[in-house]
Amino acid sequence: MKKTTGTTQTVWMHGLDFPATTALMQDITCDICVVGAGISGLTTAYLLAKEGKSVVVLEAKAIGGGETGRTTAHLSNALDDRYDILMKTHGEKQARLAAESHTYAIRKIEEIVKEENIDCDFERLNGYLFLQPSDSEDQLDKELEATRQLGFDKVTRLKKTPVSTLSDGPCLCFPDQGIFHPLKYLIGLSRAILDMAGQIYTDSHVISFEKENTLHRVKTNSGFAVTANQVVVATNTPVNDWATIHTKQEPYRTYVVGVKILPGAIPNALYWDNSDPYHYIRLVKDDHPDNAGAEEREYNIMIVGGEDHKTGQEDNEQVRLDCLEEWVREKFPMAGDVVYRWSGQVIEPQDYLAFIGRNPGEDNVYIATGDSGHGMTHGTIAGVLITDLIMGRPNAWASLYDPGRVTLKSTPEFLKANLNVAAQYKDYVTPGEVSDPAEVAPGTGSVIRRGISKVAVYCDLNGQRHEMSAVCPHMGCIVSWNEVESSWDCPCHGSRFDKHGEVLNGPALKGLGKPA
Ligand SMILES: Cc1cc2nc3c(=O)[nH]c(=O)nc-3n(C[C@H](O)[C@H](O)[C@H](O)COP(=O)(O)OP(=O)(O)OC[C@H]3O[C@@H](n4cnc5c(N)ncnc54)[C@H](O)[C@@H]3O)c2cc1C
Ligand code: FES
Repeated sequence: MKKTTGTTQTVWMHGLDFPATTALMQDITCDICVVGAGISGLTTAYLLAKEGKSVVVLEAKAIGGGETGRTTAHLSNALDDRYDILMKTHGEKQARLAAESHTYAIRKIEEIVKEENIDCDFERLNGYLFLQPSDSEDQLDKELEATRQLGFDKVTRLKKTPVSTLSDGPCLCFPDQGIFHPLKYLIGLSRAILDMAGQIYTDSHVISFEKENTLHRVKTNSGFAVTANQVVVATNTPVNDWATIHTKQEPYRTYVVGVKILPGAIPNALYWDNSDPYHYIRLVKDDHPDNAGAEEREYNIMIVGGEDHKTGQEDNEQVRLDCLEEWVREKFPMAGDVVYRWSGQVIEPQDYLAFIGRNPGEDNVYIATGDSGHGMTHGTIAGVLITDLIMGRPNAWASLYDPGRVTLKSTPEFLKANLNVAAQYKDYVTPGEVSDPAEVAPGTGSVIRRGISKVAVYCDLNGQRHEMSAVCPHMGCIVSWNEVESSWDCPCHGSRFDKHGEVLNGPALKGLGKPA
């Protein structure tokens, strides 16, 4: 799978049978235009198509070419920001609704898998929240108490974590969590949408949103447009909103290594620690022929994620992957070869809840963002909630996830995050990383200073240097080179660009310009 937001390949990206799709090559009209074919966009399109709406999906890359193809696909209602914190920030009633919405989302995925007969390895299993040596048991007690208060009566405290090398201390066990293969699930959703006469266009990058009276015109890079009564922007981070939402959430890079492990070496379950940044672990059956090895023994892949940092604010991304691998070796001495190393992006809302619903100030434009590490369930919640809003039905989660909400208790986080963004503009006055393009090594990129401008220089493997402006077209921060994904990443709101400056992740709608 080539058209994705990174150059690394994930455990999901092989042996897939995508439905045939093309770019948008004519102007068309429909009830609802959904932008983005990740789990949020396709779940929304699927549920709206089931309501009898005519739906068109526009996707810049391939189906699942965004973060849904880079996920680890834990389906969990054990929220990683912890219910104890959620209750303090939003109150018990809202925290209960959040818990219910994620529980519902896992059930909804299970229901869709059955109804559409999607062969995507969906399974129910336990999830274990364990402690690192630096954590205290008190954290587990508080979380257990919070979950009990919210009605999770099946969560239990175990004296020992099931994998003793991981932790020899206690853990919380959350039953009825889930796993699946995210891209096989999206393929199933796509086929169902197409069967209901929905339309999906790939290689169709949306470059503008215009309003003509009550109608919305969504224009793509081919020059053709979709005219719709309603628009759902499910691009992971909204590409239609210039500022409002981006001051309320922050982009993080997160890393994954996949190692071979013999079946039965650890119980098939989800594992999460409570550290910052945290680690997340699960097993996958791998059938990639390249990984078979000479021994031809049956094995699973254990995928371990973590080492998150703010996008564009790390000098050495490769070191993050190395640290993660070191952690895996220490915690799982029985693990075999590393066969996958990849990274992706998560969007962390400052008050810990996603933003799903009407775009602030607009009646017929909807967004789904702020997924944090729970985008599989948040994306499914988005499908259900946005469908209800469009169908004019009440939904108990509407105010909880309202993108226009103000959560006073998150104000210090808001200030801290926006001071961090303001601090990134210092890059205008700092020297370049190197002083001469000739110093940029083949296969890498660096930012240089030229007069009062900053220029991003990529040197290809033949030694040819390509120059582009280092100024992010979103709000003007200076990008930095990401050596793991060979991309230019913006430290302010997470826009990313490929080595030649083409846009990979919003909020930017266009690529890096010519150097000044
Ligand atoms: C390493 C990693 C591990 C994770 N683990 C988990 C986990 O275990 N459990 C969990 O629940 N969540 C997890 N997440 C989060 C989850 O994967 C994401 O939140 C989720 O996939 C986001 O889905 P989405 O549909 O909102 O966005 P995406 O899947 O990114 O889809 C958005 C789509 O919009 C397209 N697009 C963007 N701009 C445009 C444009 N201008 N025009 C047209 N199309 C556009 C993109 O190409 C993309 O395909 C993880 C994320 C990462 C990176
Ligand atoms: S993403 Fe906002 S300035 Fe770059």
